[in-house]
Amino acid sequence: MGNWKEYPQSRKMYEKAQEVFAMGVGSQVQSFGRPHPLYMTHGRGSRLYDVDGNEFTDYLLNYGPLILGHCPQVLHDAVREQLDKGTAFGEPHPLQIEVSKLLVDAIPCFEMVNFNNTGSEAVQAVLRLARAVTGRTKFIKFEGHYHGWMDNVFFSFHPDQGEDFGSRAEPKPVIHGYSKGVARNVLDNVVVLPWNDLEGVRNAFRNHRNEIAAILTEPIMSNCGIIMPRPGYLEGLRQLATENGALLIFDETITGLRGALGGAQESLGVIPDITCGFKALGGGFPIFAYGASREIMQVVSRRQAVHAGTFNGNAIGCAAAKAVLTELKKDNCAIIRRINDIGKHMMEEIGALAKKHGIAVRIQGPGSVFCVSFHEHEIWDMRDAFDQENEKYFVFRELLLDHGIHIFPTEKGLWYLSAAHTDEDISNTLRIVDKVFAIMKGMSL
Ligand SMILES: Cc1ncc(COP(=O)(O)O)c(C=O)c1O
Repeated sequence: MGNWKEYPQSRKMYEKAQEVFAMGVGSQVQSFGRPHPLYMTHGRGSRLYDVDGNEFTDYLLNYGPLILGHCPQVLHDAVREQLDKGTAFGEPHPLQIEVSKLLVDAIPCFEMVNFNNTGSEAVQAVLRLARAVTGRTKFIKFEGHYHGWMDNVFFSFHPDQGEDFGSRAEPKPVIHGYSKGVARNVLDNVVVLPWNDLEGVRNAFRNHRNEIAAILTEPIMSNCGIIMPRPGYLEGLRQLATENGALLIFDETITGLRGALGGAQESLGVIPDITCGFKALGGGFPIFAYGASREIMQVVSRRQAVHAGTFNGNAIGCAAAKAVLTELKKDNCAIIRRINDIGKHMMEEIGALAKKHGIAVRIQGPGSVFCVSFHEHEIWDMRDAFDQENEKYFVFRELLLDHGIHIFPTEKGLWYLSAAHTDEDISNTLRIVDKVFAIMKGMSL
């Protein structure tokens, strides 16, 4: 379609990878970007460098975790220091207590925590915990929400053409045809509903009286673009959960430590019973956590719901988490305030540029993470998000890449900000977005 840039070394590596490395990427989403995945050699600050010698300003940040940017000195110093002392001991160590304390101070619903290595695991831990506490099995999962790739949550995420997911009033759960191997009976334990609609949740509690252990939700829906809760929605979920003896779980994998140190529960003022998260916790090292009140966490403390894992709370993850939390807390959370401000500035400016070029975009999000998608209308749930002009998104993304800007490969369209993004990065990026919109205007899309 035009004069697209070539990435010959990456293309060759991708072809070679297919012989020994299934899919050629570690996580499926990485394979969807055009023209093909790019092989990166290193990152520094806000920049990424590929095997063809290209430099990119990075707004993907490994899908969110790199809140301090690539190779932040303070984080790597902390990890290096720990490396010399050991990585994991098969016994507890003092850093676990320090990080637990920092998390309990930061996250409103936490009085006690424990650790995981990935978001997918943390979600499993909190589902088990909620079931153990309530003695009930079912949970409410919302359409379009992603809670990791395990069978018991990987459905009704992103329906393919032709998949029947019913109507808003009568939604149908969908096990996606594009992922074989997901057990169908996981649907026995779930009630699937559209998000941002309290009536559906009210009906679910009416139809499944005393069966629902938990409502599992992202407080800001961040896996279908970014969708803010309608005014009163989270408060309504809070009330319905309490009235019906169920627990409210916030999956703050993306939102935690980002819009506010205490996550969306702090910025939006609704406190769940249980929270799991947080991509940003290790700043790029794999450590996640979950937690709740002392009363709820007693179930774990008393070994009434098994929590296990070879690397849970390992010393490297904890050293990283301590450094990140310490850095984020400094100067009354100056980093978080700044990335929210520059994110909001970018949202406004990208919106204005799109308008200048007559291109319909929808830009949503709290600031430090936001999405740019090609919709004319507002987006309140997965169904609204569906009719995006995906081809436009892929062209936008590829043109940005060709001009040195690295963003999310698929139409979810998330942009992540980090402490390493400079004012110059932002103004340069906006200049390029202007140029890219002008090119798109001239293409018959
Ligand atoms: C809200 C949410 N929950 C859970 C996960 C799974 O986390 P992980 O990829 O670390 O397993 C993700 C991943 O993006 C996520 O966005």
